[in-house]
Amino acid sequence: IVVVVIAIICGVTAQNNSHSFRNVVMERCEEYLQKNSHVTRNNDCKIIWAAFEQAYIGKDPCDVSPEAYDPLIRSVKQDAVCNSMLFWSKTKQMAHAFTAKRNCLVTLEDTLLGFMSDGLTWCSKNKSKETFTTGCPGWSDCQNNPVRSFWLKASINFAATACGNVSVMLNGSLETPFSNSSIFGSVEVKNLDPNKVKGLTVLLVTKDTDVTTCRHPSFPNLQTSLNPNIPYNCREVPYSRVEGCISDPEIPCRSCL
Ligand code: APR
Repeated sequence: IVVVVIAIICGVTAQNNSHSFRNVVMERCEEYLQKNSHVTRNNDCKIIWAAFEQAYIGKDPCDVSPEAYDPLIRSVKQDAVCNSMLFWSKTKQMAHAFTAKRNCLVTLEDTLLGFMSDGLTWCSKNKSKETFTTGCPGWSDCQNNPVRSFWLKASINFAATACGNVSVMLNGSLETPFSNSSIFGSVEVKNLDPNKVKGLTVLLVTKDTDVTTCRHPSFPNLQTSLNPNIPYNCREVPYSRVEGCISDPEIPCRSCL
């Protein structure tokens, strides 16, 4: 009897896991489409979920390639907004606090694809039909894990579709504000298309006590990775100004960055 009860509990928990992950993704998808009516027309959350699921269901959690998410990427119909795409590295919270209040800049997590998945963990198992949200490999445990491969593919797509003037928010409080091994440095910079991107501006957010400036020796590395036909620019932006703009959405965007 004990074994049967445990088996039932495990079965129900696993099923709840599968359903709750689907529910979270579906609810986020519907919420996004409700709030962004211009995106609604071309998207169907059920089709998007089916494409999402097929990328990792039934696969070993260390054997999900970025390409497995190609159908998902294709299922999401959302045009890039030129001149407003914002990349970030080590500034996640600040960048999102900023874009949450303003339409002038858009991060990957403000697009339907990124919004559905931000902060979530998921994986399946070889030959399983279930989704697990715990016990999945961590970011660096193995290369081809479902979450890392997803963000890699989503970042490639976000960068490859970028157009006009794009910017990246970097952290001036760090000793090294740009890292070649970050997703921004290793994936996004390299996927910017010089036929579409007019320029890349680094917004280096600095506090009064910070010593890091636009002259930091890590920035030539960024320029080396960047296509030579994409002009590079760097601007130091006081943290207090960004903070002020986060707390007062009435301040126009051009006065913020
Ligand atoms: N361990 C765990 N999580 C990681 C790791 C890691 N080593 N590296 C990256 N991540 C995940 C985490 O979810 C983290 O919050 O990526 C996020 C961003 O990591 P950062 O180092 O701050 O930035 P970066 O690697 O440059 O990625 C940010 O990628 O998501 C896109 O468009 C987005 O421009 C942004 C960039």
